[in-house]
Amino acid sequence: MCGIVGYTGTNSAPSVLIDGLKRLEYRGYDSAGIALIVDSRIQVFKKKGKIRELERELRPLNLRATTGIGHTRWATHGSPTDLNAHPHLSCDGRIALVHNGIIENYQELKRELAELGHTFRSETDSEVVVHLIEEELKREKVFKRAFLNALSRLKGSFALAVITTQEPTKIFLARKDSPLVIGLGEEENFVASDVPAFLAYTDRAIFLNDFEAAVIDRSSVEVFTFNGEPVKKEAVKIPWSLAQAEKGGYKHFMLKEINEQPRAIADTISGNLQWFESGKVEGIEPEEVERITVVACGTSYHAGLIGKFLFENLAKIPTEVDYASEFRYRDPIVKNRDLVISITQSGETADTLAAMRLAKERGAKVLTICNVIGSTATREADTVIYTYAGPEISVASTKAFTTQLTVLLLLALCFGRRRGKLGQREFDSLFKELMSIPSKAEAFLNREKEEERVKEIALKLYRAKNALYLGRHVNYPIALEGALKLKEISYIHAEGYPAGEMKHGPIALIDETVPAVFLATKSPVYEKVLSNIEEVKARKGRVVAVVNPGDSAVSKLADFKIEVPETHPLLSPVLNVIPLQLLAYYIADFLGYDVDQPRNLAKSVTVE
Ligand code: AGP
Repeated sequence: MCGIVGYTGTNSAPSVLIDGLKRLEYRGYDSAGIALIVDSRIQVFKKKGKIRELERELRPLNLRATTGIGHTRWATHGSPTDLNAHPHLSCDGRIALVHNGIIENYQELKRELAELGHTFRSETDSEVVVHLIEEELKREKVFKRAFLNALSRLKGSFALAVITTQEPTKIFLARKDSPLVIGLGEEENFVASDVPAFLAYTDRAIFLNDFEAAVIDRSSVEVFTFNGEPVKKEAVKIPWSLAQAEKGGYKHFMLKEINEQPRAIADTISGNLQWFESGKVEGIEPEEVERITVVACGTSYHAGLIGKFLFENLAKIPTEVDYASEFRYRDPIVKNRDLVISITQSGETADTLAAMRLAKERGAKVLTICNVIGSTATREADTVIYTYAGPEISVASTKAFTTQLTVLLLLALCFGRRRGKLGQREFDSLFKELMSIPSKAEAFLNREKEEERVKEIALKLYRAKNALYLGRHVNYPIALEGALKLKEISYIHAEGYPAGEMKHGPIALIDETVPAVFLATKSPVYEKVLSNIEEVKARKGRVVAVVNPGDSAVSKLADFKIEVPETHPLLSPVLNVIPLQLLAYYIADFLGYDVDQPRNLAKSVTVE
């Protein structure tokens, strides 16, 4: 989704803005631009393509400005062109605006404004807002009020940052359904769609809520509602270091984040120990929960599928898992003793937020598992449990997934004990096993032999056009996740399937050109997986098998095997997914793709 940055202070706004836009590149974009107040006039520079091209154009100009706004665009209305790039200017050139979201009633507003003589330069929905403000200013001379009047006419989702020559050191902000956060500096202030944009300058932030607006100046921040009522806000200290938001010597953020999983899982366990040890999850009485419904999208949905196994096996709570985009429109039956768990790395995924709101409206308690402090999901849920993965920059989610599984296991263990479904011995041994996962993940990632083996397999398979991922029981969702990782960064068509389902159709796909990746670690269904592998081998399929050390039966059959440390079957997904993340990574890297910013994808999908 689009990325917004803004700066007002005493430093060079062009360099702060370009630096901030670069740190938001991971959000995905097709064009970029900045607007600056230079000698009481607004100058706009925008370009289709990469930020570095814009930067190359700006360098020789040596622009002197201390207030400005910037934008990376993810096209929704109007194709990626220089004209459609943001910022957009008013007819008189005295107001500039950047927008993230979708103005749903823009056609109607555009017609009205055109009749009033406004000329539109772009095909975007966003441009109507700057003309609307310009029109309101004809009636209301105080910019803040004209800005609020314009907001009251908008339908849809919007994060806005606006500058004007009328108040050259100020930036006017508004937020509805798209993220916006203010960074607090000394004699300077920042605004951005996400914290990494200004983390190099400050770790103090104010998160705007929906229907909140603000004016930031060099040494002041004023927050108010869309009706102009003042809002008192607490600044939050961001616990992430800038280094965490940078590559740390890895070729791609994805590879760095795969290797950060041991620490992320350990931090997620220790960060949640307090409620886990007390057995009290704020606002939730496990004994009263009649049913759990998990709502999520993409990789987070796959974590939810594993959550189902954990809640049903360890806490005996019937659990459903729904794609949030389906839940929100299927008129779900929700009862007030239901617990709805939303899983979302970013906390800003529009479908997941809508599913949460619907569940709340229908009387359910909503708990969210989220990785981003201050994000919308964390402010709308009744209860928040954080994953402590640190910033996840690569679009392909990895460490957020394994830390989501970690939280789901802690929750299921806690609920199981509170409901008397889990004996102390089983509780202790499973928790002890969970505590060993970070070192087992570390052991796997540090075993060069295994990583080399994954690279070799990737080298053999990267020309494949199709691939099949197969798992059973709690590892079926890992087959889905492995297939998703390959699809989203290598653009190879891949399907995850329950291995037992293969003979009901997908086995027709099998021949020597379609690799079949099996999750075949120790589990109650190991023998069943073995016979599924035999079915594939019988049809000359090429088998990649994820096994435990000392495995013999599967290893004899498989063309390629990757050994992961053994653990309890219910915990094995946390380890088994890592080689699949690496396999997808190396295949995409061998194909020469930009692994961190795959085509057509965004890190945080804030529109439906
Ligand atoms: C996963 O690699 C993708 N980036 C995508 O499927 C993602 O999981 C999905 O968009 C959900 O995002 P969220 O966890 O931030 O809500």
